[in-house]
This record gives sequence, C-alpha cells and structure tokens, in this order.
Amino acid sequence: MSRGRFIVVEGGEGVGKSTQVRRLRVFLEDGGVPVVVTREPGGTALGEGIRKLVLHGRGASVDPETELLLILAARAALVREVVGPALAAGTWVLSDRYDLSSLAYQGYGRGIGVSRVGRLNSFATGGLAADLCVVLDLPVEEGIARQGRAGKSRDRFESEGSAFLGRVRRGYVELARSRPGVVLVSAGGSPADVEGRIRREVALAFPDAFGTAGPGGR
Ligand code: TYD
Repeated sequence: MSRGRFIVVEGGEGVGKSTQVRRLRVFLEDGGVPVVVTREPGGTALGEGIRKLVLHGRGASVDPETELLLILAARAALVREVVGPALAAGTWVLSDRYDLSSLAYQGYGRGIGVSRVGRLNSFATGGLAADLCVVLDLPVEEGIARQGRAGKSRDRFESEGSAFLGRVRRGYVELARSRPGVVLVSAGGSPADVEGRIRREVALAFPDAFGTAGPGGR
C-alpha cells in the first residue's frame, strides 16, 4: 500500500483558512481520496486541552517559550497518534496548521527566531514534513476586517496588534519563498476564488493522485 499524502493549510488571522480546509476536504473526497482532517493546536485529546490553555487561558500571561513548548507538545502527540498512523495506512491527512505556524507566529511573531523554532519543530515532529503546504496570504488589515465582520470572540492571537500580525505575515512570505513544498496563495476575493487557486496547487502537486472525478470536477 502506498503512503498517504500530507497537506497543510496555513496563514495569518482572518484569511479564511478553516473554510478552505472544509472545501478542500470535499474536493479530495470527491476525487476518491481517503482523508483525515485535523487541526493545530489540537487533533488529540491532549492537544485539544493544550489548545484551550494556549488560546483562551484566562488571567495568567503565557511567555513565548512556554507558549511554544505547549504547542510543540500538542504537535508531538498529533504526529504520533494521528498523522503518522494515517499516512502509513495510505490515508491522506489534511491539517489546519502545522509546523510553519510555529515558525511564523513564534519564530517571527514572538521573536524566538526561525532556526531555534526549526530545531524544536524537528524534535516534535520526528522530521515528518508536509508534502504540500498552502499559505493563504492577505494584508493584515483585511484579515482583521474579515474577523470583525464574522463577529466571533477573539482568542489571544487574534487580539495581538497589527505589528505582531505583520511580522507573522512577513514570516509566512519569507518561508514560502525559501522552502520547497510551500506555496503562497492569495486569500483575496471570494471563498470560491480562493478555493479554485488552492485546487490548482493541489492538482499540480499531486498530478497522479485523483480518480476520474477530480481534479477537474464540479
Ligand atoms: P486557528 O485554529 O487558526 O484559530 P481560528 O480558527 O480561531 O483562526 O489557530 C489557533 C491559533 O494558534 C492561531 O492564532 C495561531 C496560533 N498558533 C501558533 O501561534 N503557533 C502554532 O504553532 C500553531 C499551530 C498555532
């Protein structure tokens, strides 16, 4: 049995990542591809507990190093409990965020640095890398405006100022330029526009993976 493929969707606040993950799941399933969908931080019982602490921890402030290590603990569990076994069984994995989030948010945003975060990422993942990472890109102000319209309560990251979010965005752009397998996709326009761009990247990255239903379908 051939190993499954690992696709990650990334991006800053308000880029519409979760919507696109849902749409990409449908696209893959319509193409006859078995897929497990997960998210970070989270995806396991332990990881979802860590997610609550990191995103919504009340009162106590979390320093950048502690924040990073908590997120990495969740990632280590996710790789060993979910991602690794699924790929080994020939199932594809689609994750809402993975290691690039730590490089962008903690490496660039919090200022820990890419090389330090990169080393810790490797330890947490055991070297398991995504086959394709799609980074959705949008100007910070537009992301903030989209979130305002959505009217959800804000987590710790969404409450950060535009300087932090600007560093995160620049980080993603630099990472996409310098890393193979990472593509930058504009998150501008309608959800259907963005979906079309993502489908093209997926079809390009995995030309032999789809049955007759995809990737041209719908
Ligand atoms: P997300 O699931 O995108 O939240 P939402 O659906 O509300 O947009 O992301 C959770 C937050 O965690 C996001 O603001 C970024 C942060 N995060 C990091 O800072 N580093 C990481 O390594 C990961 C995985 C997430």
